[in-house]
Amino acid sequence: MAHAQSEYVGRHPGWPARLGPLDVRAGRVELRPVKLFDGATWSEIRIRDEQHLVRWEPSTPGGWARRNAPAEWPGRWWLLRGAARRGAALPFAIVLDGTLVGQVMIGNVVREPLLSAYVGYWCDARVNGKGVTTAAVALAVDHCFGAVGLHRLEATVRPENGPSLRVLAKLGFREEGLFQRYLDVDGAWRDHLCFALTAEEMPLGGLAARLVAEGRAGRP
Ligand SMILES: CC(C)(COP(=O)(O)OP(=O)(O)OC[C@H]1O[C@@H](n2cnc3c(N)ncnc32)[C@H](O)[C@@H]1OP(=O)(O)O)[C@@H](O)C(=O)NCCC(=O)NCCS
Repeated sequence: MAHAQSEYVGRHPGWPARLGPLDVRAGRVELRPVKLFDGATWSEIRIRDEQHLVRWEPSTPGGWARRNAPAEWPGRWWLLRGAARRGAALPFAIVLDGTLVGQVMIGNVVREPLLSAYVGYWCDARVNGKGVTTAAVALAVDHCFGAVGLHRLEATVRPENGPSLRVLAKLGFREEGLFQRYLDVDGAWRDHLCFALTAEEMPLGGLAARLVAEGRAGRP
């Protein structure tokens, strides 16, 4: 038993984790693992925000309402938890002043020799433009290059997605190129710009500390 446990810890250091808090204009931002009981709030936001999310997220066979219904969450949560336990993902909930407002997903974690993963995110439109996602992604990136021990993080974004491009710019992600017809989004194969950060590019103290130094966030 002890052997299995140490193998598990070795495969996925840094999980589970609670990260933050950071204070931004919208309130206090923290990250924690997604929970089974997030379903009602998750569904409520995503049904309300269909028009806000559908242009940027992978297409949903079966329709948006069905794929984002409360009944969908337990199955999704189970898959996310399984991926996290296998060391393949860090599925974080973004919590603003104690309430779920979105997700930061670190996925496709590949360990040696790549030590790489992707980062994806979405956030409730009612609190957009107030620094929540930038702070949340900064916390996740710092954790990935710290306790998780990764070397490279990648984010892919449609060139039309101004707010998401801005999040990555504020965090210092570097543009690497255009992936043509990369992802099936909103019913068609869409080009995506690829951005990345490697551990060598991290500022001293990390991204959250730099946001604080720039006046974009505060530590309570
Ligand atoms: C992208 C998203 C996560 C950003 O969340 P957020 O909490 O509003 O992010 P932040 O407030 O930290 O930063 C957003 C920035 O974009 C800016 N912005 C807003 N609309 C913009 C536009 N049309 N063009 C360019 N920048 C824009 C905001 O002003 C802000 O920058 P600032 O701090 O310099 O003013 C959110 O809009 C979202 O959930 N979108 C739908 C899903 C999505 O696109 N996910 C990412 C897929 S790659």
